[in-house]
Amino acid sequence: MTHILGISAFYHDSAACLVRDGELIACAQEERFTRRKHDHRFPGNAIEYCLAEGRISPGDLDSVAFYDKPLRKFDRLLETYLAYAPRGFRSFFQAMPLWLKQKLHLPREMDRGLKGKYRGRYVFTDHHESHAASAFFPSPYDRAAILTIDGVGEWATAAYGVGEGNRIRLTHELRFPHSLGLLYSAFTYFTGFKVNSGEYKLMGLAPYGEPRFKDLILRRLIDLKEDGSFRMDMSYFNYCQGLTMTGPKFEEIFEGPARKPESRLTQREMDLAASIQAVTEEIVLRMARHLARTTGLRSLVMAGGVALNCVANGAILNEGIFDDLWIQPAAGDAGGALGSALFVWHQLMDKPRTADGIHDSQKASLLGPRFRTPEIQTVLDAAGARYHRFAEESELLDLLAGLIAGEKVVGLVQGRMEFGPRALGCRSIIGDARSARMQSVMNLKIKFRESFRPFAPCVLREDVDQWFMMRHGEDSPYMLLVADVRPDKRLPLNGQGNGLLGIDRLLKVVRSRIPAVTHVDYSARVQTVDEERHGFLYRLMRRFKEKTGCPVIINTSFNIRGEPIVCSPAEAYRCFMATDMDVLVLEDFVLYKEEQPLQRQHEADRYLAQFNLD
Ligand SMILES: [Fe+2]
Repeated sequence: MTHILGISAFYHDSAACLVRDGELIACAQEERFTRRKHDHRFPGNAIEYCLAEGRISPGDLDSVAFYDKPLRKFDRLLETYLAYAPRGFRSFFQAMPLWLKQKLHLPREMDRGLKGKYRGRYVFTDHHESHAASAFFPSPYDRAAILTIDGVGEWATAAYGVGEGNRIRLTHELRFPHSLGLLYSAFTYFTGFKVNSGEYKLMGLAPYGEPRFKDLILRRLIDLKEDGSFRMDMSYFNYCQGLTMTGPKFEEIFEGPARKPESRLTQREMDLAASIQAVTEEIVLRMARHLARTTGLRSLVMAGGVALNCVANGAILNEGIFDDLWIQPAAGDAGGALGSALFVWHQLMDKPRTADGIHDSQKASLLGPRFRTPEIQTVLDAAGARYHRFAEESELLDLLAGLIAGEKVVGLVQGRMEFGPRALGCRSIIGDARSARMQSVMNLKIKFRESFRPFAPCVLREDVDQWFMMRHGEDSPYMLLVADVRPDKRLPLNGQGNGLLGIDRLLKVVRSRIPAVTHVDYSARVQTVDEERHGFLYRLMRRFKEKTGCPVIINTSFNIRGEPIVCSPAEAYRCFMATDMDVLVLEDFVLYKEEQPLQRQHEADRYLAQFNLD
């Protein structure tokens, strides 16, 4: 047996992945273990978990792959510095000590991380090659066009090419500083959200605004070509030379300074969000069209942080540019660990790959730790928790379906933890999508996050066509596509439509039969749930549908704002106790909030205080 360990680290979202004879055995992000969101440090805990899951020690590894080439990245920093000297001095000197200490001495760092027991070579794959490998190799396709778009790797900020059999070949790239990821991040920063984590919020904010700055962006900030490539006018940006994303010229054309984080959102921010979203879609669609034209292929695979923009992804399919689309669920840099390991197996070791056109080999992205009954019981007893155990699954399903229908908010920890940023039903908080008050309850009392943020629906795979305008036969098991709620499931608005009502009033409008997951523009980030991939969740939703006639529930990640998604039962119990969640399910254990020992307020406060708002 051949064991390959993939590692991504030192930028954001460190992760590890273990591949055995080409099969994904385990993948996890370091943040889940260290409880520090987007942890970029060496993923020692994730590696330890992956090796334990594979029941091997570092000495059993045949190859260890790192997801980018540190020397080439060093090159970029140096050259950018030279190009922008002396203004680039400050950012250069901030970046340098870390580089010198860790990244240039990576093999030494990795030796230490593997406890000196690994004797083989280290392979350094190219950053976008890692993304591309993570998109193509686990995909269902034998041949596909590949598109990767992110902030920046070594030099490339986007790349495309073709995957065929057990080979990928990237043929074109867009280079730093011209970057769709960084352009989007500049608007994330300017609208007062945190770069590298607030991008998702900006996408959620877009439907509240009008894209009235779209033309301005296309005229002044970027020069966009027919093939989707573009050059940015760097005089508006500050990320090469300074420590902020945007400069004074940016403020001039976008009506004033950046929004201060946590201050009130105004129409300008919503319009900026709508505008950069429209520009992003325009760029992604042009890239996709060009790729379809030049390769003649009908399937597309994607990865890189921008591939998490599910609105743009949905547009690729809706426009019919490709017939099939598969996106790596861990599209950001964490997925680079998976990509580099598979790259070594297929491309460097020349091992064959089979693809049947339908099934991917991502295993529902449920590639993390799971916890068994004795372990859970020990944790709960130590915490003095009161719980009920259900030996019969069907009894448990019945109970839960009833609780959800009764508007209870349920924390669910079952099976292996998800790999990637989305919770897919194994570390999720779920609730009744039919409830009009559920969106604000979940945002404000459970997750302590901004009230405008939409929630995503889970829908039974066989019923998706009845509720959402997905293309027929389309799957979205990784919550990476948006689709509109079907017109016949919408409700008349009685004059309280989309006008300039202000966010707070817009949120109260009941737009459909599933208002908790229907965005202001009727869009929804859909996760389709099927028996094969999602066993327990599927059966639970079946039971819920039997009771209520509704095959849709809300699914949001099990965490509070700023906290990494929970991994262990102890973390889940702490989060449950510190929030207004009603019920906690840990495999076959059920806990009711009202039965728990009174939590001393300062314990909850201490828990909440340890996470920085993102
Ligand atoms: Fe990347």
